[in-house]
Amino acid sequence: MASFLEIADDERGYDLEHFCVPRHYENDLEKVIIPHGLIMDRTERLARDIIQDMGGHHIVALCVLKGGYKFFADLLDYIKALNQNSDKSVPLTVDFIRVKSYCNDKSTNSVKVIGGDELSSLSGKNVLIVEDIVETGRTMQTLLSLLSECNPKMVKVVSLLVKRTPRSSGYRPDYIGFEVPDSFLVGYALDYNEYFRDLSHICILNDQAKEKYKV
Ligand code: IMP
Ligand code: MG
Repeated sequence: MASFLEIADDERGYDLEHFCVPRHYENDLEKVIIPHGLIMDRTERLARDIIQDMGGHHIVALCVLKGGYKFFADLLDYIKALNQNSDKSVPLTVDFIRVKSYCNDKSTNSVKVIGGDELSSLSGKNVLIVEDIVETGRTMQTLLSLLSECNPKMVKVVSLLVKRTPRSSGYRPDYIGFEVPDSFLVGYALDYNEYFRDLSHICILNDQAKEKYKV
């Protein structure tokens, strides 16, 4: 089973006042739960683990937009650094897919994949799907079944976060950054109705903000 860094249910996190948080979000957040620096350090290690397993073959890194874009960019930077500084290196190309399954703070039953036509170009390739967070697992299972129709050579999934929740289908990614409590998280490209992507740290949203940004 994939190893991960556990953020416990009773994790108190950090008060906002110790970090730089945009003024426009100051009243919307409960606490910082994963500071940006820790995200980066864990991502560096995930890059190493992935290259150890998948290295030697051309990798197509598939970014699941929009939430995955920060993690994708930082993970690829670490993989690039490994490629630049070791005797062995592996060609890396990128692709992007957009998936939408959330409204307010609830996962909906319909998982919409946009940009799916180009999936056929992944036939015969080693694909690394890069996702921000797995909650029920429905999004990833939908994406994996779509992808399998295109006959890729290998598919691995890396998710920065996995939520501990009774709503989980039991699906687990191949690589996991952190396992997190069952709260709604924002920041580092994770959003609440498109807000909070412009926040560096991963934070817990407060109830007041859920109302304020509701659609
Ligand atoms: P799943 O299909 O239930 O696994 O949900 C996966 C998708 O829901 C993720 O790719 C996110 O876009 C979104 N999501 C789930 N939990 C959160 C959260 O706590 N904050 C922000 N987005 C979330
Ligand atoms: Mg996502």
